[in-house]
Amino acid sequence: MVYLNGQYMPIAEARISPMDRGFLFGDGAFELIPVYSRRPFRPLEHLGRLAHTLEGMRLANPLSLPQWQAVIERIVAGNPGEDQSIYIQVTRGADVKRDHPFPKGVPPTVFVMSAPLVTVAPDLLQTGVACVCAADNRWLRCNLKTVSLLANVLLRQEAVDAGCTETILFRDGFLSEGSASNIFIVRNGLLMLPGITYDVVLELAQKHGLSYEVRDILEAEVRAADEIWMTSSTKEVLPVTTLDGRPVGKGKPGPLAIAMYGWYQAFKRTVMRGAQ
Ligand code: PDD
Repeated sequence: MVYLNGQYMPIAEARISPMDRGFLFGDGAFELIPVYSRRPFRPLEHLGRLAHTLEGMRLANPLSLPQWQAVIERIVAGNPGEDQSIYIQVTRGADVKRDHPFPKGVPPTVFVMSAPLVTVAPDLLQTGVACVCAADNRWLRCNLKTVSLLANVLLRQEAVDAGCTETILFRDGFLSEGSASNIFIVRNGLLMLPGITYDVVLELAQKHGLSYEVRDILEAEVRAADEIWMTSSTKEVLPVTTLDGRPVGKGKPGPLAIAMYGWYQAFKRTVMRGAQ
């Protein structure tokens, strides 16, 4: 079951116009919320980030916070699986003509769907994953989660073409992030992350007494790192053990990656699944 413009329906019945500006211009916002044991993970933070994206694209938020929460609750209840990934997309709607400026009097398109939450198999932690690097040629407003993702798609495909998992991006000599993930590094026992932070990992680092720094990270520091991790809602905490064909550190998941993975799983069990 999905939600489309105020109605709940099977996905096969959901229809949007080819004039939709999400389709024509990539003129839309999205958000992805993981759900564990049917409980959305940090929904207020995700809905806050959606509000921030909508504000950045000058589109009025079509639903209030309680309305968003009610839609999400109903979509979670109406779909199978204890663990789900809730995808939200809001576009500037469908006008009768294709024209760049904002249309007048056109309602936004609001879509919410659920998919099974597929996280990384624990045995990948034994080996870690391989990544490639590329210049970050995305637009400058990457703090907005918009559906115009062609640059991310092309960058991610570079990893796939090389038989790797993710493409790590650098801009002006500094680490920015992965094509669909955040990147952390460890050097000399210190966890470092670029300006974009992944709050849970930071909170867990703090709780377990791991020192960390949030600052700009040079490409050279990444290439000399003892450990590299990628994180996202679906990848959770995944060690990167090969970068552009060369081993990261000892070429195996490092001790801090393994520790953080364990803390993250324990956090999920206790906080998200309510087991004490
Ligand atoms: N992507 N940076 C980019 C460019 C991303 O696309 C994502 C996630 C992240 C990590 O954000 P989070 O921790 O909220 O998942 C960082 C989602 C999952 C996607 O596009 O499918």
